[in-house]
Amino acid sequence: MKVDGIHTRSIWSLDNGQAVGIVDQTLLPFKFEKKILRTWREIQEAIGNMRVRGAPLIGIAGAWGMVMAIKESPEDEAIHEARSALIATRPTAVDLQWGVDRIVTRVMSFEPHERFNEAVRLAEKMTQENVIANRAIGTHGAKLIAQIYAQKREPVNILTHCNAGWLATVDFGTALSAIYIAMEQGIPLHVWVDETRPRNQGLLTAWELAAHGVPHTLIVDNAGGHLMQHRDVDMVIVGADRITSAGDVANKIGTYLKALAARDMDVPFYVAAPSSTIDWSISDGKHGITIENRSADEIRYVTGVNEQGQVERVAIVGADTNVENPAFDVTPARLVTAIITERGVCSPEDLMQLFPEEAHQA
Ligand code: MRU
Repeated sequence: MKVDGIHTRSIWSLDNGQAVGIVDQTLLPFKFEKKILRTWREIQEAIGNMRVRGAPLIGIAGAWGMVMAIKESPEDEAIHEARSALIATRPTAVDLQWGVDRIVTRVMSFEPHERFNEAVRLAEKMTQENVIANRAIGTHGAKLIAQIYAQKREPVNILTHCNAGWLATVDFGTALSAIYIAMEQGIPLHVWVDETRPRNQGLLTAWELAAHGVPHTLIVDNAGGHLMQHRDVDMVIVGADRITSAGDVANKIGTYLKALAARDMDVPFYVAAPSSTIDWSISDGKHGITIENRSADEIRYVTGVNEQGQVERVAIVGADTNVENPAFDVTPARLVTAIITERGVCSPEDLMQLFPEEAHQA
């Protein structure tokens, strides 16, 4: 997508795979800055501290992390050490393990001296495949938006939670890809953007939508139920960090509450994600998905711009207040209207039919 008119991706390779460039998302929406990473430890730090974030993007960043590790040492022991450390960085999004393991599995059948070139080739392919998948997700998702517009003949109101835009993927996004493509097709729409405390990824969504001229309104996380009750939401579209074979969906904390309100008000609740986000090895999301608990400081502090125009971090609660910070929750398949993947749209229970080649894993 474009930043100030320049086509930009969230991650890109440099110097024939010797390094990668990223957009440092910890500085957004206040400052747009790129950063170059040359070692797998730097990539691990970027994933852990959410300079890169969003399930599909950390999958690709993990793949490039393995490329950097193999550049540093192509021996088995070093590869396994980097593999375990990278995967442990963020436990909920399955894409990270998928991205890391795809590189490891491939290079292990090569001699150490051949591994780096092979890893670069595959990481480039995976990066490109993510872009293609997201574009396909957008095309399928846009049809759902068009269907609502065909009935309503007024702008379609879409609620989204967290950031499932180009910043959370290599390009286009998942949930937002559908919105961008619907806009391209001339469908009038408006997006309710959940703020998404504590990390406020909704501000990234608002930043993306503003850059692409998509009408949107930022709301606090607690407003969604009220808006749905008053018929101001035609559909909810969110991304995902892990989807089980039975269609349970782990996504940013607060997603489950939106799904409950949507069900109560008969608002369709869609989940958009590439197949790298589906974990075919588990079916029960509530018991099978590890939920990442993040630092209490993410709740204790907020960051914003002060009256002098400087970015400032301030405490909103004292250190003596107990704080708990689960970063994700699981929405059961029964609350999900349909899942939008690169292969098409299906009900959660039909996911396996869309990917029959995965049946052996389930
Ligand atoms: O903790 P984050 O920001 O890495 O969270 C991941 C996400 O961006 C969201 O949960 C998103 O909805 C799914 S990823 C497109």
